[in-house]
Amino acid sequence: MAPKLKTEKVVIIGSGVIGRSWACVFASVGYQVLIFDIIPKQVCDALQDIKFQLKKLGKKGLLRGTLNADEQFSCINGTTNLATAVKDAMFIQECLPENLTLKRRVFQSLDNIVDDAAILSSSTSTLPSLFSDGLEHKSQVVVSHAVNPLYYVRVVEIVPAPWSDPEVLMKTRIIMKEIGQEPVSLYKEVDGFVLNRIQYAILNEVWRLADEQVIDVEDIDKAISEGLGMRYAFLGPLENAHLNADGIRSYIANYGLYIHSVSKTFGETPRMAESKNAERICERLNALVPLQRLQERRLWRDACLMRLALLKKEMNAKCRKN
Ligand SMILES: NC(=O)c1ccc[n+]([C@@H]2O[C@H](COP(=O)([O-])OP(=O)(O)OC[C@H]3O[C@@H](n4cnc5c(N)ncnc54)[C@H](O)[C@@H]3O)[C@@H](O)[C@H]2O)c1
Ligand SMILES: *[C@@H]1O[C@H](CO)[C@@H](O)[C@H](O)[C@H]1NC(C)=O
Ligand SMILES: *[C@@H]1O[C@H](CO)[C@@H](O)[C@H](O)[C@H]1NC(C)=O
Repeated sequence: MAPKLKTEKVVIIGSGVIGRSWACVFASVGYQVLIFDIIPKQVCDALQDIKFQLKKLGKKGLLRGTLNADEQFSCINGTTNLATAVKDAMFIQECLPENLTLKRRVFQSLDNIVDDAAILSSSTSTLPSLFSDGLEHKSQVVVSHAVNPLYYVRVVEIVPAPWSDPEVLMKTRIIMKEIGQEPVSLYKEVDGFVLNRIQYAILNEVWRLADEQVIDVEDIDKAISEGLGMRYAFLGPLENAHLNADGIRSYIANYGLYIHSVSKTFGETPRMAESKNAERICERLNALVPLQRLQERRLWRDACLMRLALLKKEMNAKCRKN
């Protein structure tokens, strides 16, 4: 069966890191993708970069979907005209810099030109109610918050404003699955959403243990990368708990009190800038990974995530067969 191109139009607003990745992901299943940016050169650069990235992915056999790199690239075009861009768009993914004033302004312009059917999806990590209040089309607004690099780290937090239409939320979830992302839906908006709340809980405790000199910087990071992270790449903390006893009820009965008593010793939320050993922790990290090597390290991390994404795909397929 020959892979099919779709007729529905998806508009990406902002052609930075996240905008480019979203464009690739939507094109991977044949959506007609239009990238909008106010700076013409940004649009050209983005298209060139996307062409290069798709070809590279194709050569390495890492391209998503069943279309080849040229077919996927042929689905993507750019524009600097917002009004014509969003005309008849099915889905609009805003990828502007994280600046609430700017986002409010752009959503206001969108409000004047979109029809009643387009889904207005934002990449922001702030609450959707903060930029969509007062819009005529506010029931069409949702946040689809991805994790960088979203081509390999597939989770997308779907976050509603209080006035989001449930149908818009459901459709967004279906579209995310269709393009190969993994949607997780929040019932309501909450500061930091879910991913960053968990990330900060971990970061706070890791910081505290390093700051109180319970353990060295390199070793505490290893506790995650060689420990918890290994399991968490495949199963969440709840299912891990379920498996680590005779089911979750037995886990609670056996470990619940101990977990509570340890957790009570955590103390106040650390203030990173003011903590006593902040300088020591920073120096230690800078020694482990000097600033001029950050980019090299990022590339290595992304290469690891690429391999992990393949492994997850293989293991998930096995899981479904059995
Ligand atoms: N980078 C990440 O790791 C990451 C992860 C998850 C979510 N996000 C979110 O995604 C969004 C975009 O992040 P990014 O890293 O791609 O930002 P970025 O700064 O790389 O890209 C922003 C783009 O918006 C364009 N732009 C600026 N003003 C504009 C306007 N008025 N109209 C149209 N385009 C305009 C810029 O030219 C630029 O291409 C942010 O809300 C960010 O919080 C980022
Ligand atoms: C892409 O957009 C440009 C500029 O708007 C236009 O000239 C060109 O025909 C478009 N290409 C395709 C394949 O639609
Ligand atoms: C945010 O965007 C507004 C509107 O474009 C701009 O005036 C302001 O300088 C921006 N703020 C930052 C911190 O970039």
